[in-house]
Amino acid sequence: MTKPSAPNAAPRCVPCRLAAIGAVVAVLAGGFAYTAGWLTPARLTAPRFINTFEVVAGQAHPGYRRNHAKGLCVAGYFDSSGAGSVLSHAAVFAPGRTPVIGRFAVPGGNPSAPDTSSPVRSMALLFQLQNGEQWRTGMNSTPVFAVHTPEQFYQQLVAAKPDAATGKLDPAKLKAFYAANPETKPFQAWVKAHPPSSSLANAAYYSINAFRFTDSAGNTRAVRWAMVPETPYAPITDAQKEERNFLEADLDQRLQNGPLRWHLILTVAQPGDPIDDATMQWPDNRQHIDAGTLVIDHTTSQEDGACRDVNFDPTILPAGIRPSNDPLLAARSAAYALSYKRRTREESLRPEVHQTKSNGERS
Ligand code: HEM
Repeated sequence: MTKPSAPNAAPRCVPCRLAAIGAVVAVLAGGFAYTAGWLTPARLTAPRFINTFEVVAGQAHPGYRRNHAKGLCVAGYFDSSGAGSVLSHAAVFAPGRTPVIGRFAVPGGNPSAPDTSSPVRSMALLFQLQNGEQWRTGMNSTPVFAVHTPEQFYQQLVAAKPDAATGKLDPAKLKAFYAANPETKPFQAWVKAHPPSSSLANAAYYSINAFRFTDSAGNTRAVRWAMVPETPYAPITDAQKEERNFLEADLDQRLQNGPLRWHLILTVAQPGDPIDDATMQWPDNRQHIDAGTLVIDHTTSQEDGACRDVNFDPTILPAGIRPSNDPLLAARSAAYALSYKRRTREESLRPEVHQTKSNGERS
């Protein structure tokens, strides 16, 4: 007996099906190409940022961060005073201790650059909360950033590209960038008035970007924070200016005498303070809250320390803290992710990439 055909069977049109599959593949490929920036080369994407960081670094440094490449890992803990709870219900602000992994660094793409290559130092932290959440932050030792937008940051990078013929930076290009971008003035003025610190231990580190803190009653306020050292500030000495690698050795020496401490100071914006512009400071008379003490008690090299494989993406936040609408934050998140992806891939394919330590020694 022959089987009756199903009454509603769809007509078999093989070319139609192939065309439909082709269309789906084309849409997916188009989406991928758009995300990667191949269809819109003028659009500012993470690959454009990271490719340009690589060019500015002058040569490849596989396995290392594409910015803030020179650094070291640290570890310790945060002792919360409980005072931060008035601003945020994040568990990290309840009284108690939270373990911390961190990293000190200097900006730039060369892991062997002299410590004097930039006036800026940085501190990045990962707070490992008891409830499984994390708070990651990357802070610089200036209270303001040079530029307002990711586009300006990109143009600043382009202006810092080494000249193809000489291999050297062209100061005229950077000067022209600063002249065309007057938002950079507060940063330049701050750097001029504040010589770099003599140590990583006696610098303050600032979130620069603002974030939104929500308390347990649901009130939200804009907040910036700073890690303010207990060790008194001292400017870089003339002898240090001649040395390539004094920062790491200085930190190790200080830690032999005991842990180093910073206070987490939260600063609350008033209505009208700029929340989305990292080039502008808030007035000094804003409310400050000492949320507790960061204690750093040991260091390891970044080639094999716990910070090596951490992406200190500043948008990884616990409940109770959210990013503000500062446009730098989203750009940072995307660029750090791609830098992380490239460097960890290089590490896994070629474990020997970490042969040169930041202090220039071979491991
Ligand atoms: C559009 C703006 C920015 C871009 C594209 C950018 C890009 C980068 C990249 C690619 C890295 C390496 C990340 C990694 O591989 O883990 C990095 C590191 C870092 N950046 Fe930025 N950055 C920007 C703005 C800022 C701002 C405003 C701050 C200041 C708070 C900052 C502070 C840091 C710090 C502290 C690190 C080192 C993190 C670590 O030790 O791992 N950056 N940046």
